[in-house]
Amino acid sequence: MKPVNIGLLGLGTVGGGTATVLQDNAAEISRRLGREVRISAVCDLSEEKAKQICPNAAFIKDPFELVQHQDVDVVVELFGGTGIAKDAVLKAIENGKHIVTANKKLLAEYGNEIFPLAEEKNVMVQFEAAVAGGIPIIKALREGLAANQIRSIAGIINGTSNFILTEMREKGSAFADVLKEAQALGYAEADPTFDIEGHDAGHKITIMSALAFGTPMNFSACYLEGISKLDSRDIKYAEELGYRIKLLGITRKTDKGIELRVHPTLIPESRLLANVNGVMNAVRVNADMVGETLYYGAGAGALPTASAVVADIIDIARLIEAETDHRVPHLAFQPSQVQAQNILPMDEITSGYYLRVQATDEPGTLGQIAALLAKENVSIEALIQKGVIDQSTAEIVILTHTTVERNVKRAIAAIEALSCVDAPITMIRMERDRKSTRLNSSH
Ligand code: HSE
Repeated sequence: MKPVNIGLLGLGTVGGGTATVLQDNAAEISRRLGREVRISAVCDLSEEKAKQICPNAAFIKDPFELVQHQDVDVVVELFGGTGIAKDAVLKAIENGKHIVTANKKLLAEYGNEIFPLAEEKNVMVQFEAAVAGGIPIIKALREGLAANQIRSIAGIINGTSNFILTEMREKGSAFADVLKEAQALGYAEADPTFDIEGHDAGHKITIMSALAFGTPMNFSACYLEGISKLDSRDIKYAEELGYRIKLLGITRKTDKGIELRVHPTLIPESRLLANVNGVMNAVRVNADMVGETLYYGAGAGALPTASAVVADIIDIARLIEAETDHRVPHLAFQPSQVQAQNILPMDEITSGYYLRVQATDEPGTLGQIAALLAKENVSIEALIQKGVIDQSTAEIVILTHTTVERNVKRAIAAIEALSCVDAPITMIRMERDRKSTRLNSSH
């Protein structure tokens, strides 16, 4: 069989890694595939770099020329972002080129434009590397779990944030200090907003939610709350109560609609997700027949991400000459079955809650707080007083049973209005230990 020709857009970390994987594992790949995969054309800002990394490929300066080139069967988009990357991908699809991309932002924000065009033009768009780097979670959601109704997904899907939270817990350091350390180590970007404020995780959970529930991309409805306001005191108190705090991307199907959210979350320390540390990623899927499955691995880095890119290239190469009916649908469900569903506003989600209240240490304070929680039907699971800040002020930490977020927020507003409460209440959502059964759609 004739080789499959790749046109590579971008030779940054992942692009360079892709060239390395294709070169170093060329023999193994053609043993699996029965044909050779060859980089026929590359586009990068630096011609010198392109010549160095891909000496046998044509250097094409203009990405729009590359995506129309006759010697390119598959365009591998590794520019990132939604500027040139988006225009080049759309142009490539228009020209009948198959696409492999690691670009989560592009798919989460413009997937509703890209996938219908790809279907119209009969091309495949593969994106394993867009979510959790080297972990084959897209394959698992689209194929491995295809017999199930998926109930929920919860993932540690931003390595930068997980590194920062791990360091804060292990060293008791403040967020700002650990961020500086992460930047010095190259784990965090000079402008870390995208990672630490939940955008990157939001893009990834949006893509997984669409695949799990057969919906279009709903990034604009995804709730984003990052880790920059986390106080290391809360990490410490959570630990004393048997919990770890992780930045989770969560999506759940409920009777009322779909929850789609990213925020710091207390997780019982006995759960596997709570023990995913450093820059590692993990995704837990709860599905009706199989129960819980967990996927763990490197969520970033040149070779792990390139591993996913090259797996997509191999998938496309296997199906390139097959009837389109034999392909796995882009969003796991037949395009005609991809249906918009209600994405629940945060007030309507259900969760457990960690509340830290700073209040005057005097008789009756606890009673007033407990009464206001009860008034909003919020049930207390645990309540401890965490020492005295000064002679007259104490910190009270409350864990609630699962409840509707609107009720907790109402109770918080009422408690903050008490004269004995002298600072805003800290609220962190909490995952509680719930058994995974067919009848229980816990995450
Ligand atoms: N910046 C991401 C992370 C990796 O920190 O996990 C790419 O999405």
